Amino acid sequence: MSKNIVIIGGTKGIGEALTSLLAKENQVFCISRNPGEIIAGVNYIQTDVNNDMLDMDKLPDSIDGLAYLPGTIRLKPFHSLKEEHFQEDFEINVMGAVKVLKQCYRSLKKGNNPSVVLFSTVAVQQGMPFHSSIAMAKGAIEGLVRSLAAEWAPTIRVNGIAPSITDTPLAADILSNDERKERSAQRHPLKKIGMAEDVAQAAAFLLSEESSWISGQILGVDGGLSSLRV
Ligand SMILES: NC(=O)c1ccc[n+]([C@@H]2O[C@H](COP(=O)([O-])OP(=O)(O)OC[C@H]3O[C@@H](n4cnc5c(N)ncnc54)[C@H](OP(=O)(O)O)[C@@H]3O)[C@@H](O)[C@H]2O)c1
Repeated sequence: MSKNIVIIGGTKGIGEALTSLLAKENQVFCISRNPGEIIAGVNYIQTDVNNDMLDMDKLPDSIDGLAYLPGTIRLKPFHSLKEEHFQEDFEINVMGAVKVLKQCYRSLKKGNNPSVVLFSTVAVQQGMPFHSSIAMAKGAIEGLVRSLAAEWAPTIRVNGIAPSITDTPLAADILSNDERKERSAQRHPLKKIGMAEDVAQAAAFLLSEESSWISGQILGVDGGLSSLRV
């Protein structure tokens, strides 16, 4: 059955892969600051969700699925991170999601088995050097997932995905050449870095009816990094 799905950040990386997976069978509303590559049938809306309100007239009255993808990867030693860096990371990763969820709550409540997917990182469960700012922001996302999943049950499901390094524009600096990609791959028990589609498939599952008995979970899509030692 066709669903109304809102994807914040559906024009690049994991969000673009998710848009392309879902666009075939659903009404997808894709929100980003810049125009993306057009996928047939997708409704594109340009909004900076950190600074502007969503135009609810351009979104459906009832929303069945919502994914929030804007994020940051700012890897620096703690001593060189400024206070404003922590604030910026918190603003984009957490407050953007909070603002969007507040604006979409009524429409989500009217949805058909509505489901929300937020994005964390493997670096919340696994302590990693230079990740303090992003791990703090995404730790807040994991807290938000569990709190909202409890508060909005049984109507709206809320889950999170915690990827490890995935080949997207956001990770372009870290994966800037083949040697860096190979070094990253070798750190993972499955000896691969993530592809946007690997993570998008997990998000599509959490937005679908197939996951209808799952809420309040953080799904590691991380090549085994968070839980395996090989
Ligand atoms: N890639 C990784 O290695 C990795 C690892 C762990 C966790 N994650 C998490 O996974 C999520 C997706 O990552 P990704 O790598 O796919 O990111 P990405 O390549 O940077 O894509 C982010 C998407 O969000 C949009 N966006 C950013 N800021 C926005 C704003 N203020 N308002 C509206 N749209 C905005 C971008 O479009 P515009 O720029 O045009 O606005 C783009 O469509 C993020 O939350 C990230 O933290 C990624």
